[in-house]
Amino acid sequence: MTQPTLKPADGKLGVLLPGMGAVGTTFIAGSLLARRGLGLPIGSLTQMGTLRLGKRTDARSPLIRDFVPLADLSDLVFGGWDLFHDNAYEAAVNADVLSREHLNAVEDELSAIKPMESVFFPEFVKRLRGENVKAGADKMELAEAVREDIRRFKRDNALQRCVAVWCGSTEVFRERADVHSSLSKFEEGLRRSDPAISPSQVYAYACLREEVSYSNGAPHLTAGDVPAMLELSRETQTPISGKDFKTGQTLMKTILAPGLRARMLGIRGWFSTNILGNRDGEVLDDPESFKSKEVSKLGVLETILQPELHPELYGAMYHKVRINYYPPRGDQKEGWDNIDIFGWLGYPMQIKVDFLCRDSILAAPLVLDLALLMDLSHRAGLSGIQEWLSFYYKSPIVPAGLYAENNLFVQLGKLKNTLRWMQGEELITHLGREYYD
Ligand SMILES: NC(=O)c1ccc[n+]([C@@H]2O[C@H](COP(=O)([O-])OP(=O)(O)OC[C@H]3O[C@@H](n4cnc5c(N)ncnc54)[C@H](O)[C@@H]3O)[C@@H](O)[C@H]2O)c1
Repeated sequence: MTQPTLKPADGKLGVLLPGMGAVGTTFIAGSLLARRGLGLPIGSLTQMGTLRLGKRTDARSPLIRDFVPLADLSDLVFGGWDLFHDNAYEAAVNADVLSREHLNAVEDELSAIKPMESVFFPEFVKRLRGENVKAGADKMELAEAVREDIRRFKRDNALQRCVAVWCGSTEVFRERADVHSSLSKFEEGLRRSDPAISPSQVYAYACLREEVSYSNGAPHLTAGDVPAMLELSRETQTPISGKDFKTGQTLMKTILAPGLRARMLGIRGWFSTNILGNRDGEVLDDPESFKSKEVSKLGVLETILQPELHPELYGAMYHKVRINYYPPRGDQKEGWDNIDIFGWLGYPMQIKVDFLCRDSILAAPLVLDLALLMDLSHRAGLSGIQEWLSFYYKSPIVPAGLYAENNLFVQLGKLKNTLRWMQGEELITHLGREYYD
């Protein structure tokens, strides 16, 4: 495939978040702190990662942000929508992720970020009630109102380009319906307020119509898994990616499982349970929202272990995932894994993982990277599903007929090779014959 022509990252980039809760405000506050030199953007590949170019003997390993033209942190302008009126400072204080010392250092900038009125249908998030919600005669009118928000945000902030990353609550599990099957059916569905069209789909539609790339940080059905959105993404030449940020327990799973599979060790069972007490946990306490998450979390092991190729190792594996809402923990989730493995001649062993993590601290750098890399994709003229960004997702979207690649290290290789390809550098295959010739 021919190398794309990259447009420069000139001017300001708007980062729009549908949903400005714990993850959204931790991302915004952290980016503001990092650009003032008051904190390091740890966990962000675009800010701290390097990639090797050429041979191992060439000693060329630039920072990714020096290798590809990414928007600079100082050129980002933040905005978004939320069900609540709280500005980003108030929402961040409520989320209780970052310290007052950190938040107060950027209070002026955070307080100025006020959420726009949201699109909300309560049947899609049953545990929340909206206060800051748009009114409209039908879903198309709501989509038009979101489009107008985007145009105004661009005008008021003199922005060159915008990207959107969904940081809103997880919506209830829904299968694709006929209204999702084509763009014309979807638009017709918007006009008659089809009940199968969710709030996140209204945002995604509005964003793509405004040529704003759309990333889905939650597991529900929105963008790349909806044919109508794929059609719109191609029509407007705007990239989409998703879904469900890969952070705590699933990150660990996609680090550990490839290692066990690489050594041909068997797995009899993998039991994962979590306690968390933030608003995300409260929403996921609703069985229908949990179902969206469960489907997303369960899928990862199948494609990494490929039991169809190794029935004697993984064919009988029992995989169970639980999420328990436990308010005292707030955002400080604890994830336990018990893995029953077996080795030589079938002798059993166990692995226990106890990850005391901080959900939003792990998710915030992913929002930053997705914003910057989706903007890069757009400037490279790429549209449709950006599978090269599956590194960031629990449940990567792929075209029909392809299985998703969930192995974190394969995903990282794919991401870095895509950057090399964009810049006309040789891809790295790790064959390494040249060192012995
Ligand atoms: N933190 C992680 O590690 C992680 C990992 C994977 C996925 N996620 C997902 O990211 C999302 C955000 O997580 P969080 O911890 O910030 O949750 P949160 O509850 O703190 O924030 C979500 C915000 O979205 C708002 N919201 C809900 N529906 C909306 C709508 N239609 N329009 C505008 N705003 C809306 C809510 O009012 C809330 O402020 C969740 O869907 C979560 O499942 C988080």
